[in-house]
Amino acid sequence: MNESVLKTLLVSFSICLICSLVVSFAAVGLRDIQIENKLNDQRLKILQAGKIYNPELEIKTQFEALEVKFIDFESGKLLSEYQDFSLESYDQILATKDSNLSTKVPQDKDIAIIKNRENIGKVYIIRDNLDEISKLILPIRGFGLWGTMYGYISLENDFNTVAGIEFYQHKETPGLGAEVDNPKWKSLWPGKQIYQENKVTLRVLKGKVENDDPMSTYKVDGLSGATLTSRGVSNMIEYWFGDSGYSNMLKELDYES
Ligand SMILES: Cc1cc2nc3c(=O)[nH]c(=O)nc-3n(C[C@H](O)[C@H](O)[C@H](O)COP(=O)(O)O)c2cc1C
Repeated sequence: MNESVLKTLLVSFSICLICSLVVSFAAVGLRDIQIENKLNDQRLKILQAGKIYNPELEIKTQFEALEVKFIDFESGKLLSEYQDFSLESYDQILATKDSNLSTKVPQDKDIAIIKNRENIGKVYIIRDNLDEISKLILPIRGFGLWGTMYGYISLENDFNTVAGIEFYQHKETPGLGAEVDNPKWKSLWPGKQIYQENKVTLRVLKGKVENDDPMSTYKVDGLSGATLTSRGVSNMIEYWFGDSGYSNMLKELDYES
């Protein structure tokens, strides 16, 4: 009797041990693949925001054709180098957790509720045949209802007209706030304008944009039943295109072109 109890325990223990080893090895072994898949998803969103994604081609190959620059948010300058960071692997979200690489956003200016803004970001540039910038793809983020929404917005070469918008991570509710990722809603963005007379004017409404609204180019339909998420998107546009975000860089580029 005792022996059979011991045997049962031994078998159970062995099975547990084997299973935990299998799970541990799988987790460790698949970690690199998971990281690569996450990166690929982000690359896909960058390409989609820029409206240049071709499903026939490999994401990585298409992504590598993009020009990447650092942006110094303080000066608005685009940089090819920053300290010994690599343009490929620098993670601007990680930088927000390091007080040497980021700046605390004063509460009264933190409209997107990001808490810390990285000192150096990354921008993605698409050039035409004449080597002129044809589109810019810019990372944006801001708090929705349940958490921070991370995405990309792209601008046409007037540095004001939206070419596309994509979100790659958020915690909003499926069917409500998560509709930020609905292709139909995202299709409302191309052609909208960010600035009117140097002021960030583009915003997401509560409700629909009226057909005869003369300001419709600065307005996007709200997400129904998700006013707080919609407000979060408006706030992130206001923050990232303001003085602490991309406005200095966009002014510099405008003078150059
Ligand atoms: C379970 C649950 C999930 C919700 N998720 C969201 C959400 O993701 N985004 C959002 O703006 N509102 C969400 N809401 C609704 C908000 O609580 C709030 O009622 C709404 O934003 C008000 O906007 P409305 O005037 O468009 O209804 C959720 C509500 C419930 C009960």
